This record gives sequence, C-alpha cells and structure tokens, in this order.
Amino acid sequence: MLQVRGLSRSYRNQQKVLNNINISFPEGSFTIIAGPNGSGKTQLMRHLNGLLKAQEGEVLLRGESIQKDLNHTRRSIGLVFQNADSQIVGQTVASDIAFGPENLRWPREKIREATEQVIRELSLEKLRDRRPHTLSGGEKRRTVLAAVLVMNPDVIVLDEPFTGLDYPGVQDILKDIVRQNKEGRTIILISHDLEKVLAHSTQLVLMNKGEITASGRAEELLPHLEEYGIRRPWGENRTLKSMTWLKP
Ligand SMILES: Nc1ncnc2c1ncn2[C@@H]1O[C@H](COP(=O)(O)OP(=O)(O)OP(=O)(O)O)[C@@H](O)[C@H]1O
Ligand SMILES: [Mg+2]
Repeated sequence: MLQVRGLSRSYRNQQKVLNNINISFPEGSFTIIAGPNGSGKTQLMRHLNGLLKAQEGEVLLRGESIQKDLNHTRRSIGLVFQNADSQIVGQTVASDIAFGPENLRWPREKIREATEQVIRELSLEKLRDRRPHTLSGGEKRRTVLAAVLVMNPDVIVLDEPFTGLDYPGVQDILKDIVRQNKEGRTIILISHDLEKVLAHSTQLVLMNKGEITASGRAEELLPHLEEYGIRRPWGENRTLKSMTWLKP
C-alpha cells in the first residue's frame, strides 16, 4: 500500500500547487489520475518516489516514510515521465535498460538475465542495439518502461504515456501496463485519455487546482465528470467496459 497523507507544496509563497492531498493506492490496484493542465498531477507523481520532498505531509510505503530509505523507495516505485527523452541515458537500448542495475552494482550475470528478460517481455529484441535518439516516440516509451521494469518495482507510475502515439503504439504500451498489473504490480496512470484506459482501472482520481476533487470507482464517477471539469469527448452513452483501446 502506498499512501499520501496531507501533502502540500507551494513555490515561493505562490498559490499551492498541491493542497492537502490524501490518497491511498492499495497493492495491485490500478489508479487513473485525470485533471486539467496545471492541476498538479506531475507534481504529485514527483513526490511518490521522493524526487520531490514533501514540504507538508508525507508519503508512506507499507506504513513507512519513503524518505527513510530512498534507494529502496526508488527500486520499489518506478516512474515513467511525460517526456521519454529526458529519461533515456544509455548509448543503446540495451545499455539504457542495464543502466539502473549497473548503478546498483548488481552482479554482471544478474544484470544480463534481467535485461534479457525485459527485452523479451516488451518485444524490444530488434531494437536492442539501436541508439535511443533514432527511435520512434512509441519505441522510446517502451525503452523507458523496460528500464523501469528491469528494477522489478512494486509500483509503476506513468505520466501521459500515450501522448503522440498512434493506435498500435497506444495498444502496445497499454497491453504492457495491463499485463504488469495482472502480475500484481500497482499501477498509477496519469492520463486524460480516459476512453483508452478507464475500463482497466480500480480507482479514478480527479484533480483540479492542486486538489483532489473526487476519487472512487470509475462507474461511480463516470456520470459526473463534467461537474469536475473533465470533458467527455466520447459522448454520453459510452459504457465503462468499452473504454479501452485493447482488443477483447
Ligand atoms: N518549479 C516550479 N515553480 C513554480 N511552479 C511550478 C513549478 N513546477 C510546477 N509548477 C506549477 O505547478 C502547477 C502544477 O503543475 P503540474 O506539472 O503538476 O501540472 P499537471 O497537472 O501535470 O499538468 P499537465 O496536464 O499540463 O501536465 C502548475 O501551475 C505549474 O506551473
Ligand atoms: Mg503533467
């Protein structure tokens, strides 16, 4: 269980960008966070693995502050950022995936095995020796996801992972996310493309102006989205079950 309690943040005495955020992410849950631009979604994400330290409030992983052992926190909670380019460090896809384990000085054989496994899992075999800056947007996203998965995290947080991807590109990433959730990992997905993903969620969190304005099961919130400032471009009568881009 990952818990956020009373989390607030402001920059230079301006209005709070996060204001008393309280939310729990149970083990194995699939949370979707939505809200208008500037509502604080990315700021919240950056607190979840200690990249930003809480000014007020705290983040707890299994009851312990994530600040207590930041190395453990960063292994347990993997972030996939909005901009894949900012997160790719290796000279090749394979070396980018191995970067985290190498930093932690895992034994060579263990690094090799773990890297090979995620390359297979995410079907990156053909890309393994490619230079990351030559990859397409979707291929970059999958590389970043692989570099997160190789650490075997309990929780994966993804910030708008579908931006700029075409239909198959979205499907590839979504399939991987759903599989990781089925294997027991907790998923926190920031996305305004609710019609692509909502069917998979166990919890929907709506944010506005630094606050959580609603949280609950998608079926409860779906009829009320406009009241929380979320547009429904997919129309009134869409069923929750149909809100996925994965083929049945
Ligand atoms: N370093 C900073 N200094 C001042 N304000 C900041 C800083 N970083 C973020 N903010 C402000 O915090 C607010 C929340 O930003 P955040 O990036 O979390 O929004 P978001 O919900 O992720 O939006 P988007 O959908 O556009 O990605 C914004 O008003 C932003 O300008
Ligand atoms: Mg953002």
